[in-house]
Amino acid sequence: MPVERRKPAGMAPKGVRESLTEVADLMFPPDANMHGTIFGGKILQMVDKAAGVCAMRHSGKPCVTVAIERVEFHVPIRVGTFLIARARVHHTGRTSIEVGVEVYAEDMPSGIRHHTNSCLVTFVAVDSDLKPTPVPPLLLKTREEKELWKAAEKRRKWRLNKTAGRRRL
Ligand SMILES: CC(C)(COP(=O)(O)OP(=O)(O)OC[C@H]1O[C@@H](n2cnc3c(N)ncnc32)[C@H](O)[C@@H]1OP(=O)(O)O)[C@@H](O)C(=O)NCCC(=O)NCCS
Repeated sequence: MPVERRKPAGMAPKGVRESLTEVADLMFPPDANMHGTIFGGKILQMVDKAAGVCAMRHSGKPCVTVAIERVEFHVPIRVGTFLIARARVHHTGRTSIEVGVEVYAEDMPSGIRHHTNSCLVTFVAVDSDLKPTPVPPLLLKTREEKELWKAAEKRRKWRLNKTAGRRRL
């Protein structure tokens, strides 16, 4: 049975599928570093764009990046690769949205795809004064969506404990 989380008054929950986003680009020589493989900053830009559109699709509001966590580069990416960043909402708080992005490299012209990167990006929806504003709750339907939510909830608790510790110092 679908589970609704943290429903701010008057906001209809949204499913994960409603905000799924893909950003894709063919890698050219200017995207490469001195080793001839794709610059990490280029990949992060695609990740941030895909995740940002995903967060704005979910919230229906402007969103700003507040944190990029756990960036992993599993394999080098070469010029001529078609790169695809696929973003989906893992978790929503009152004003924040955690988005998971998976990056795939499609070799041209063979079409063989490899998973190259994983990344977690948190956004905050903002009003016209750039102050945090509530987001719709996430409607969890599948077992995988519920597991991703639980993992995000753990990270959130850990981060809040860490911040509270810092504030006490
Ligand atoms: C994002 C911003 C609006 C948040 O403002 P703030 O006054 O710190 O907001 P709050 O402390 O009330 O936190 C708002 C939400 O962000 C979350 N948050 C804050 N810091 C976070 C972090 N490091 N990681 C994950 N979430 C974080 C809070 O948990 C809260 O979530 P919730 O409402 O779902 O519980 C503000 O920090 C900002 O403008 N940052 C700059 C953003 C930017 O320029 N990004 C790059 C270009 S898009």
